[in-house]
Amino acid sequence: MSKLWDRMLLVPTVIRLASRAPRDPAVAWDGYWRGIQTTGRSGDVLWDSGSQTEYAQYSADVVAHFDPALPVVDVGCGNGSCTRWLAGLFPRVLGIDVSAGAVELARRESDGLQNVDYMVMDAAELGAGAQLLERIGPANIFVRGVFHVLKADKQASLADNLRTVIGSSGRVFLAETNFHGTSLAYMQELGATRRSVPRQLQSALENLPRPGRFGAQERRSTFSDSEWTLITDGPIDIEVVPMNAAGLSQQVPGYFAVLAGA
Ligand SMILES: C[S@@+](CC[C@H](N)C(=O)[O-])C[C@H]1O[C@@H](n2cnc3c(N)ncnc32)[C@H](O)[C@@H]1O
Repeated sequence: MSKLWDRMLLVPTVIRLASRAPRDPAVAWDGYWRGIQTTGRSGDVLWDSGSQTEYAQYSADVVAHFDPALPVVDVGCGNGSCTRWLAGLFPRVLGIDVSAGAVELARRESDGLQNVDYMVMDAAELGAGAQLLERIGPANIFVRGVFHVLKADKQASLADNLRTVIGSSGRVFLAETNFHGTSLAYMQELGATRRSVPRQLQSALENLPRPGRFGAQERRSTFSDSEWTLITDGPIDIEVVPMNAAGLSQQVPGYFAVLAGA
C-alpha cells in the first residue's frame, strides 16, 4: 500500500482523537500535563527526549549570546527538562508555563536544584512581559517548542512580552519544529499508521491544540525588524522520544534563531 494511501486512512483516527481536545488552549495544556505519569526518553511526553545531542546544537549559541549576569527564563518550560539543562550553564533560571500541572511536575523533577525556580504564567497574555520584568529584571529568554503551538495573534503577543523582558542586553534563543508537510504526513513521520498511533502522539492528539510549523518565514512575521535584530538562525533537529520498536532516536526538522532588541 502506498504511503499516500496509508496517510489518507489515518484521517478518521485523527478526527476521532482530535475531536476530544478542549478548545481553550490553557485548559488543554493543563489537562494534558495532569495526565502525564512518566517523563524522559521512555516517558509519556512526545517532545521530552532530554537529548544531549539536541542540546549540543544549542550550547555554543546560548553560551556565546546570553549575558550570564542576567537570569534565564525558560518560556513554556513544561516539566522543566530544558530548564534543568540551562541551570547547568547559567547561575539563575526561571521556568514559566501556562499549566499549573506542568509547573508542579517541573518542581518535583527539579527537587534539590538551588538555581531553578518555576512560576505559572500565560506568557502570551497582555502585560506578562511587564510582570516578569518587575519580578526578575531584564533576562535572557530560552523557548523550545512554544511558538509553533500558538496561533499567530498569540505568537505576536508572546514576542511583544519577550521584547519587554530582554531590555537592551538580554537575548532570545528559540528552537521550534518546522516540518514542511501536512499534519497527516507529520503524524506518519512520527510513527502513526492506520493500525496504530504511538501512545505519546495519541495523548498529544487527544488533548492539545493542533501544532503548526515555525521557521524563518514565521519568525520574520512575528519578530518585526522595527523591534528585533536577528543575530543568527538556521536549521536544527528537534528530538522527540523514541516511538519505534527498536528504541532508535527520532528527529523532527526544526528551526532556531537568536534575537536581540533593535
Ligand atoms: C511542546 S511543549 C514544550 C515544553 C518544553 N519547552 C520542552 O521543550 O520540553 C509546549 C509548552 O508550552 C506551554 N505553553 C503553551 N502555551 C503557553 C503560554 N501561552 N504561556 C506559557 N506556556 C505555554 C505548554 O503548557 C507546554 O508545556
